[in-house]
Amino acid sequence: MYRTHHCNELRQSHAGETVTLCGWVNTVRDQGGVIFIDIRDREGVTQCVFRAEENEEANKLSHTLRGEDVIQVTGRVDVRPEIDGQSTFNDKIDTGEVELVATELTVLNKAEVLPFQLDKELSNEDLRMKHRYLDLRRPRMSKNIRLRGDITNSIRNNLAEQGFTEVETPILSKSTPEGARDFLVPARLSPGKFYALPQAPQQYKQLLMVAGVERYFQIARCFRDEDLRADRQPEFTQVDIEASFVNSDDIFTLIEGMLVDIFKVSHGVDVPTPFERVDYWHAMDTYGSDKPDRRFGSEIVDLTEVFADSGFGVFKKAIEGGGVVRAINAKGFASVSTGQVKRLEECAKEAGAGGLAYIQVRGEDVSKWRSPIIKFFNETELEAIKDKLDIEDGDLILFGCDKRQTVCDVLGRLRLEVAEMCGWLEGKEDILDFFWVVDFPLLGYDEEEGKWNAVHHPFTRPKADDVAKLDDESQWADIRAEAYDVILNGNELGGGSIRIHESDLQSKMFSVLGIDEEEQAENFGHILGAFAYGAPPHGGIALGLDRLVMLAAGEESIREVIAFPKNNKGNDLMSASPAEVDFKQLRELYLKSTVDDKKKS
Ligand code: AMO
Ligand code: AMP
Repeated sequence: MYRTHHCNELRQSHAGETVTLCGWVNTVRDQGGVIFIDIRDREGVTQCVFRAEENEEANKLSHTLRGEDVIQVTGRVDVRPEIDGQSTFNDKIDTGEVELVATELTVLNKAEVLPFQLDKELSNEDLRMKHRYLDLRRPRMSKNIRLRGDITNSIRNNLAEQGFTEVETPILSKSTPEGARDFLVPARLSPGKFYALPQAPQQYKQLLMVAGVERYFQIARCFRDEDLRADRQPEFTQVDIEASFVNSDDIFTLIEGMLVDIFKVSHGVDVPTPFERVDYWHAMDTYGSDKPDRRFGSEIVDLTEVFADSGFGVFKKAIEGGGVVRAINAKGFASVSTGQVKRLEECAKEAGAGGLAYIQVRGEDVSKWRSPIIKFFNETELEAIKDKLDIEDGDLILFGCDKRQTVCDVLGRLRLEVAEMCGWLEGKEDILDFFWVVDFPLLGYDEEEGKWNAVHHPFTRPKADDVAKLDDESQWADIRAEAYDVILNGNELGGGSIRIHESDLQSKMFSVLGIDEEEQAENFGHILGAFAYGAPPHGGIALGLDRLVMLAAGEESIREVIAFPKNNKGNDLMSASPAEVDFKQLRELYLKSTVDDKKKS
């Protein structure tokens, strides 16, 4: 046995006992021959004292110790003494009332000087990633990794209690349309052919319903070759769920129960249920987002009627073209700097706007207000916006004019950017604003591709009242889906839907998406076939486990809760992957690299 206790266990009640601890040298303090070593393991730290009179050899060896050496210390637990009438208790650590008076010391392994200190936050993320095994030793990261394990356990227990069976599905699988690019794996035994890594186990879990499993879940690895962000990784983990004979309400109750348990584990709070349900278009029109952060105001106000006959050409033209004029009031932000206005304009343009119209409200006298557009407004328009936007001295008004969707995107983006600039979320870290977004549109028209796409995925069921609209393209934009997302503080935690379970309806849906019969047979023959053999009504959801743990841990990036994440370029800096491979390996796979040709051209 290496040790009798861990490093956060000893208390006054252990005084007099002989114990053995193992761990890393956290700090070394030499006080004139007496050496104090804080020994650390994943649970915490304990102070060890090495005195020559207890054991000369151990004392001598202790002088050679350096930070992060791995040691084993045996000794007697003493209550820390009073010195000159002063207590030497350290209330910063749980073991602060005792110390281990060392009688034996074994150095289990030496450590070289580390590339960075473990007790300081490090802004150089590349360096952290290169030595991730050291980064993970730090208490914050160690806590995150263990919280992740606890949350996963809580999920497994919760689902098992409700009769869900964990089933693994293939990683080497076939491309399934989730909207991102696939990672492909060449198949050596089928020259010229490729597996796709699953973007999600969507079709497999539906096929498990056809197979009569009824209640499936999986802590599933998913792979999507997309541009990376703080909340996106090329490989990530879903809590993937599917059930038969359920409706949306059953899924809501299940997920709410699971999330309540998780936040009991992580925050010790009782999250109230049921979560509010917010209509998709209400979310878009009010917050400009289908995952709104509702912890601050600045809601979007529609001004289309006000400006229907405006003298300001830009607004008028947008409205004549079937668009809208809307605005947000960034309360108290008239002090916005020129640089910030520029930044806001960039954001607006990135979100699809042609420009940024704004008003800096300064005092009662409208002629003193700073704005590139106010000169175009007449008295009626001015009065109307003052009233509708509740304009007061010191406010900043930001306008959007374009098609409804674009204006939602633009003002939604500006709303978040302003909140960031103004620190509106400070002090709101403890709020847990859970809610469902429901009644998503089933289909969205992609102008660039000139075709209709599924907003969620092609297996999502249209609302019963809207199914007939599938027969009339002019009504496709109005079809609502039996789909839902669960949101927490402006983050999409998960999404799912009730599915199509009839072969003919599924085939019709594929046709709407421009997939002809031949392609349907080739790519989706298995699922269309399966639906023809008695598929039960079913539905499900997938929660992003990384995002869930990130929010539970109070982190801002999912990289902080993944043991070995990729950086923003999709690289693992520790193992240096992806990497080039031997020509021989490529040949076995019937592959030839065109990288050099590309470089030349
Ligand atoms: P969806 O594509 O909405 O649905 O994904 C579900 C959840 O997975 C998380 N997520 C990600 N997390 C980290 N990195 C990524 N790149 C990433 N992409 C998605 C999000 C998201 O809400 N098969 C459907 C689910 C279903 O219909 O049951 C699906 O995958 O938290
Ligand atoms: P213009 O008369 O076209 O130069 O526009 C005057 C002001 O209107 C610009 O400085 C912007 O503030 C604003 N603006 C122009 N185009 C747009 C647009 N598409 N959306 C919002 N504001 C715009």
